Amino acid sequence: MSPEELRHGPGLKFSIREGLCIERKPAPCGLVLFGASGDLAARKILPSLQGLSSQGLLPADFFVLGLGRKPVDEAELRSRTPGIKNLHYLHGDYDAAETYQALGRKLKELSGKYDTRGNTIFYLALPPALFHAVTHKLGEAGLLDESFGGWSRVVFEKPFGRDLTSARALAAEIRDHLREPQVYRMDHYLGKDTVQNVLMFRFANSIFEPVWKRTYIDHVQISVLEAEGVGHRAGYYDSSGVLRDMFQNHMLQLLALVAMEPPANFAADSVRDEKIKIFQALKPLTPTASSQSIVLGQYAGYRSEPRVSSGSTTPTYAAMRVEIENWRWQGVPFYLRSGKALLKRSAEIAVVFKHVPHSMFRPLNPSNLEANALIFRIQPEEGVSLTIEAKKPGPKTCIGALTMDFDYAEAFGEHPPESYERLLLDVMLGDQTLFPREDALEETWRFIQPLLDAELPLRSYDPGNWGPAEAERLLGDQGRSWRQP
Ligand SMILES: NC(=O)c1ccc[n+]([C@@H]2O[C@H](COP(=O)([O-])OP(=O)(O)OC[C@H]3O[C@@H](n4cnc5c(N)ncnc54)[C@H](OP(=O)(O)O)[C@@H]3O)[C@@H](O)[C@H]2O)c1
Repeated sequence: MSPEELRHGPGLKFSIREGLCIERKPAPCGLVLFGASGDLAARKILPSLQGLSSQGLLPADFFVLGLGRKPVDEAELRSRTPGIKNLHYLHGDYDAAETYQALGRKLKELSGKYDTRGNTIFYLALPPALFHAVTHKLGEAGLLDESFGGWSRVVFEKPFGRDLTSARALAAEIRDHLREPQVYRMDHYLGKDTVQNVLMFRFANSIFEPVWKRTYIDHVQISVLEAEGVGHRAGYYDSSGVLRDMFQNHMLQLLALVAMEPPANFAADSVRDEKIKIFQALKPLTPTASSQSIVLGQYAGYRSEPRVSSGSTTPTYAAMRVEIENWRWQGVPFYLRSGKALLKRSAEIAVVFKHVPHSMFRPLNPSNLEANALIFRIQPEEGVSLTIEAKKPGPKTCIGALTMDFDYAEAFGEHPPESYERLLLDVMLGDQTLFPREDALEETWRFIQPLLDAELPLRSYDPGNWGPAEAERLLGDQGRSWRQP
């Protein structure tokens, strides 16, 4: 038999039985939506509230109060969000003390009207430059004070700073007005079902954890690839770039879920304590022009995009080899890559196991037998697959990789919910498990900062491809290759 006879078999399907749920019922509350006229509010927040409402997951006593600079007709706003009847609107400048006094009066009125007991969520769906000022004004107006009975929580959108220094300054401002249990930093990747499934797979089963270590795992690949260019967020993106936009937050958070030790329970601080240990164990990257650990790229044509500066050196692609210096992961590289204008939109975590140590199927060598891989697909279709080597039917001895494939939509007859639904519900419940803690920001910025400071070569790549060729070499000379989703 020749290696050419190895074939990929058809997919097998998992079947899913009715599961057990952890009951979660939020207390009555009101949600103040700063930036209610914005893109995020329209595309994610209001539709997610509608989704929660249609599933009966919002508290019975609930209201939304939109806030913005321009007057908006409440009736018109309600007609755009039919699921939420108790929708109100207030306008005023974000930096004027009167706005917060009016907000306080309105909250008192609505809290009484809807019996929400003073429990309030302030969602800052605003440009990040306003986070400081709005937090300060809310604090000054006494609206974050919980000593009168109801609770106050503040949701911050990313980015949380643009470097270590500014992240520390924002953290200090937040600390002046809020206790950490009041702070919810959104990382919408953590609200995706498949991402949470990393924890379920690892810690609700006994078959994976014993092999989840350097002895059996060869390497891990985390890829978040986008087919589109920078599009309508070009202005923001050009001042940010892929390291700030993707790596400091989403990529490192995904890495931590894969790598962390088992927490004793599913409580927010137990999980976040374990994640911190991973961030602290990351081997610092030493970025140099000839670095073997990091490749930055920018797609051809990026500089001609509207609102992008003509001499821009903003990276739209990065790939890096990361090491975790602890007992479990010694010698296991984590390869991370993310970029725009690539061949396909795809996000996945691939845990690639080692080749068998010896092949009894001569003349096949261990390297002819495909290494097992467990893949968590995050987008576009959420699911999990496991590749295993197996005999193909027939009189000849043919071994091929079978893929056991669990497709979320197919298995459950529905698409997984928008991650904002899950995260908004968590805020109402006061569950911070899926929200990065302040110390995680410090550690992740500390890891990324040297890459922002270094003058690294910027490789050009053609749109509609897999990124710079140099990224292949990051793994290529190790006998490994990037998976092509
Ligand atoms: N959009 C996304 O896909 C996305 C994804 C991830 C994270 N985020 C984050 O979510 C937050 C909101 O994003 P977005 O895209 O919704 O922002 P946006 O549409 O640019 O702005 C949101 C609202 O903020 C107010 N605003 C905008 N610029 C302002 C300024 N210079 N001064 C005062 N108010 C201003 C406007 O409301 P009024 O005019 O009514 O006051 C605007 O409707 C940002 O922190 C962003 O980084 C967004």
